Amino acid sequence: MTHRTDNPRGSGHRPLLLDAFCCQGGAGMGYHRAGFDVTGVDIAAQPRYPLGFHQGEALDFIRAFGEGFDFIHASPPCQRYSRAQKIQGRTHPDLIAPLREALEATGRPWVIENVEEAAPELRDPLTLCAGAFGMRTYRHRLFETGGGFTFTPPAHQAHTAPLAKMGRPRRAGEFAHYVGNFPGVAEARADMRVPWMSRDGIRECVPPAYTEHIGRAARAFLNTQAVSA
Ligand SMILES: C[S@@+](CC[C@H](N)C(=O)[O-])C[C@H]1O[C@@H](n2cnc3c(N)ncnc32)[C@H](O)[C@@H]1O
Repeated sequence: MTHRTDNPRGSGHRPLLLDAFCCQGGAGMGYHRAGFDVTGVDIAAQPRYPLGFHQGEALDFIRAFGEGFDFIHASPPCQRYSRAQKIQGRTHPDLIAPLREALEATGRPWVIENVEEAAPELRDPLTLCAGAFGMRTYRHRLFETGGGFTFTPPAHQAHTAPLAKMGRPRRAGEFAHYVGNFPGVAEARADMRVPWMSRDGIRECVPPAYTEHIGRAARAFLNTQAVSA
């Protein structure tokens, strides 16, 4: 299934970005706000995805079509690395190594995003935290960059705000963790600027502010490449 709600590919002046493992589009929306024409790919149907969407296997899609995009973002599922899954003795395939190989083969600049527990699998990742973007949550996400691209994260803010107790509504001055069956979906939507998302999408998402920051650096990088070509 493929649907588009923005410009058809190549009709505008926006560079093309592939949002692999896109879920409900937290990462994709940030790149859209930074000026990219975004296409998301996910193995599951994603009726809430707000941009162009293709349902399919992400590695296959990158191998077949990755070269046709100006920039590729990939957020493979993090279950393999999460503590809960390890405690339950579940095993999941390592997607990061074959993903990196597929991304390198495209010759395009790229980013792999994941949770902190995946740090041993990632090469020199950069960390972004919601506190640096004015949100009332702390949410560390790691970003490995490649294809000649890198970016500078904003300065990390110390975690000084008290955290709301898990499962309880946030009190004045508290920060919340949007994990598990967190309460206050409306508040989380407003805080992370993801008004179209369900709780499931919010739990999984990269806040758009992170990828808007990366996307601006990516646009500058692509402009530099165009000038030197
Ligand atoms: C952590 S979520 C991505 C979150 C997203 N980047 C965001 O910011 O909203 C991972 C997504 O990968 C999808 N997925 C898992 N295996 C996949 C595969 N082999 N190919 C494509 N998508 C896959 C899942 O359906 C899920 O939506």
